[in-house]
Amino acid sequence: MSPKLLQKIQNKTAKIAVIGLGYVGLPLAVQKAKAGFTVIGIERKRERVDMVNKGKTYIPDVVNDDLEKVVKNGKLKATQSFNPVSEVNVICICVPTPLTKNKEPDTQYIENVTERMLPYLHKDQLVILESTTYPGTTEEIILPKIQNMGLNVGKDFYLAYSPERIDPGNKKYYLSNTPKVVGGVTPSCTQLARVLYQQIVQEKIHTVSSPKVAEMEKLLENVFRNVNIALVNELTILCERMGINVWEVIEAAKTKPYGFMPFYPGPGLGGHCIPVDPFYLAWKAKEYAFNTRFIELAGEINDMMPYYVVERTARILNQQKKCLNGAAILILGVAYKKDVGDLRGSPALKIIALLEKEGATINYNDPYVPLFKLNGKEYRSVEINNSEIGKNDLILITTDHTVYDYQKIVNKAKLVFDTRNATKSVKVGREKIHLL
Ligand SMILES: NC(=O)c1ccc[n+]([C@@H]2O[C@H](COP(=O)([O-])OP(=O)(O)OC[C@H]3O[C@@H](n4cnc5c(N)ncnc54)[C@H](O)[C@@H]3O)[C@@H](O)[C@H]2O)c1
Repeated sequence: MSPKLLQKIQNKTAKIAVIGLGYVGLPLAVQKAKAGFTVIGIERKRERVDMVNKGKTYIPDVVNDDLEKVVKNGKLKATQSFNPVSEVNVICICVPTPLTKNKEPDTQYIENVTERMLPYLHKDQLVILESTTYPGTTEEIILPKIQNMGLNVGKDFYLAYSPERIDPGNKKYYLSNTPKVVGGVTPSCTQLARVLYQQIVQEKIHTVSSPKVAEMEKLLENVFRNVNIALVNELTILCERMGINVWEVIEAAKTKPYGFMPFYPGPGLGGHCIPVDPFYLAWKAKEYAFNTRFIELAGEINDMMPYYVVERTARILNQQKKCLNGAAILILGVAYKKDVGDLRGSPALKIIALLEKEGATINYNDPYVPLFKLNGKEYRSVEINNSEIGKNDLILITTDHTVYDYQKIVNKAKLVFDTRNATKSVKVGREKIHLL
């Protein structure tokens, strides 16, 4: 291992490049700069580069004051250029890993940044991949490209994988108080990556024997969530048929102090991780003639939820002798989860498209999403006041943002379909509320 590189990381004189300044990369870059490292953010989008250099955040989890401070004191700057790769000691890759239309891994971003940084790589650098991906990516995509330059891993350069566990909007757990997992290609790669994260994370750094194990570990976390959400979604549909309140069932099960962990139903999965990552594993498994049946089944059930919400909406209206065709529906919350403005893969968008197809008139409110486009049409968040609520046939709660005054909403609503149990503390008017 390079003692010089180790020392630079330990005394924080190492320069770090963070490639991809999104939900993962920007908080990581700021955290590293706050810890005392000099950080260069390499970002494809011009407007993001400009905002970072002005000290203005565009990621809700990054506090403006923190960003401004590290930019002002020269610890963080952003650029579109890959030239700075030649000046840094550590490179962290945080680019997207989406799926193709056919739900296959789209690793073009990882491949692209690897190609683009190659001309600037030299001896004694540590490269860490943080994007979520299938087991094998670090050693199958990145390693051969760098080794082809004549650099030997573990001797001339160091390569590791460390999954990112950021949970946008989570006020209790964030980067610096969440344990980090690290797996290097060689023991010295693991050791260097471990020492780096020790400088920025207060919690334990858990090392594993290879990048593959670390890549699989991240997928286990997300498959676990995906499958358990699907399980509770399926039981929700059954409970409704049996006249049982699934939310009450979960509250009761939660009283068991061991062996049970609550997962909650919802209108479908969204975001960049839980609906996407499991399919990276499902795809890779096929190389080993293996079908990941839990993943496929969970995907099927979770994908069905927006359709179930639309079917239930029609039934709820029908009970009031109203028809979905022509009904006025106000959607509350279009972000994929509460208290964030992230629309990626949000089930609310699918629900809006399906409801409109059935002839419903849709308006929405989301304090975090002032406007969005869907199938070429622009939607603008309407103000949420008594007259707006009262003029709709049904209020459909798709995201349980904390800022909403649910009692006030129920007071003025004709009917409420609550897919998140957001109205659990509402006392008056419960007869108008239908739960998922
Ligand atoms: N968002 C989350 O909650 C979360 C949590 C854990 C892990 N992850 C994983 O982290 C990775 C990044 O996710 P994200 O949510 O930060 O994505 P993001 O889309 O918010 O950010 C990625 C950034 O990379 C930039 N980029 C793309 N190609 C580039 C290139 N060639 N050069 C420079 N910049 C480039 C994009 O412009 C974007 O700003 C993904 O693999 C994701 O699965 C995300």
